[in-house]
Amino acid sequence: MKYDVCKIKIKNLNNKFFVLGVFDCFNKSNIITYSNIYINKYLRYLIKNSKLNTRFGKYTLINSLNNSHNNQFLIMGCGTQKKFDLIKYKKLIYRSISILNDMNVQEVIFLFLDLNIKNLDIYWKTRFLIESIEHKIYNFSFFKKSNDSILLNNIILNVNNSEDINIVKNALKISLSISIGLNKAKDIGNMPPNVCNPLYLSEISLDLLNKYNNFIKVKIIDENKMTELGMSAYLAVGGGSHNKSYMSLIEFKNTIVDNLYDKKIVLVGKGLTFDSGGISLKPSFNMDEMKYDMCGAAVVYGIMVFLAELKLPLHVIGVLAGCENMPGNNSFRPGDIIKTMSGKTVEVLDTDAEGRLVLCDVLTYINRFDPYIVIDIATLTGACVVALGKDIHGLFSNDDSLSSDLLHASNQTGDIAWNLPLFKKYSEQLKSNFADISNIGNKSAGAITAACFLSHFIGNYKWAHFDIAGTAYNSGVNKGSTGRPLFLIAQFLLNLSKIVKN
Ligand code: BES
Ligand code: MN
Ligand code: ZN
Repeated sequence: MKYDVCKIKIKNLNNKFFVLGVFDCFNKSNIITYSNIYINKYLRYLIKNSKLNTRFGKYTLINSLNNSHNNQFLIMGCGTQKKFDLIKYKKLIYRSISILNDMNVQEVIFLFLDLNIKNLDIYWKTRFLIESIEHKIYNFSFFKKSNDSILLNNIILNVNNSEDINIVKNALKISLSISIGLNKAKDIGNMPPNVCNPLYLSEISLDLLNKYNNFIKVKIIDENKMTELGMSAYLAVGGGSHNKSYMSLIEFKNTIVDNLYDKKIVLVGKGLTFDSGGISLKPSFNMDEMKYDMCGAAVVYGIMVFLAELKLPLHVIGVLAGCENMPGNNSFRPGDIIKTMSGKTVEVLDTDAEGRLVLCDVLTYINRFDPYIVIDIATLTGACVVALGKDIHGLFSNDDSLSSDLLHASNQTGDIAWNLPLFKKYSEQLKSNFADISNIGNKSAGAITAACFLSHFIGNYKWAHFDIAGTAYNSGVNKGSTGRPLFLIAQFLLNLSKIVKN
């Protein structure tokens, strides 16, 4: 999609298509929604003659105006202004895009930045407008003849106040970098497990080296190297699969700026390209969804793309922990005791609690980077879906300032996370009679005991863990990867880079 930002002179335009929104109260008060006098006048005329439906969800299409110009107006009802919030704004955008698509419109002028929305300034109105459009037009069509192609290819954002133009342009640039990263994350997430295996994750990582060669370095750790390093827990999980394990390291560093925030940030993504459960085999119902068990890695990849596109003054290392959990004659088994890279031993009581085994070795491995902040992102537990549902990420951290910064980014973007506790008490569930720790607790508080397990392996860094088992993908008719929490992490990094002070 091509975007332009400008201050339109509507009087001079002909044959254009406009999209705008109108609130209920338009006729009852003096509120002037549109600073464009021409539009304002015309809307008043339409309302007076009862030609507009301003209820939320309704729309009116005006083909000919009472003037000589041949412009078209799609006027979206916004309901009461008081009730108009971010959620409604997004719905309005999605709806307009489908209407425009049905009408085969190619170029459109959006006047939505004029709408008054609770707690949103023009910067955020632009961010949400672009990100919602990009979200709506995403489709995954590598494997089928697509008939949902979209004709709309040019969107003009009208900005009435010239002083706002640079703010809108800056927001547009950021949103486009986010969308490029997000689309990559979604594509990788949706890719079938016979294509997207650990080797595939390493190959697409190497692609970044060519694409952004001045900013990105890539290193692949294969099974031989893992053996040398003593990463036996990671290796055990991949043992049953004929697809070998690969850990892909993607390092982004902006060396051309002098205001570099030089504390290292490491992002770790669980990359189980398929989680059958292993010998503790999962039930077959919806098992296809376990291709999404690499969505943490997909989000980390998307973030690296976002960083390279926007060239933030940061130093970030992304780790894709690629692995496949399968039953096989070389599988690890319930009862096995594994010596992790940290030296701690783990008794495996369930081979389906594999994510934590892969991650514990990665959390040890990354000590060599001497990171300041480490954030892992993992579809770790079904228990997190029970606790928080499909809309909210579970967030765990050993550092209050880090979790509050992450929650701030979460509130800014609407990519909602909720802080869950890491009390020591929960670790009692992980006691083993035969090893230092067992890989599962009892039936209660499964998301927390999984996070507690990870906490036993963290080094001397600020650490946060996102459990995205519920939020990484949608099921049912809308089945597909969400790309979340890319919005949240990208915003956290933007805030850190201090480029945007919003
Ligand atoms: N990948 C799953 C978690 C998961 C479940 C992700 C549902 C997305 C949707 C993870 O590896 C797993 O199997 N966890 C087990 C842990 C249990 C054996 C302690 C679970 O949640 O059942
Ligand atoms: Mn599992
Ligand atoms: Zn898993």
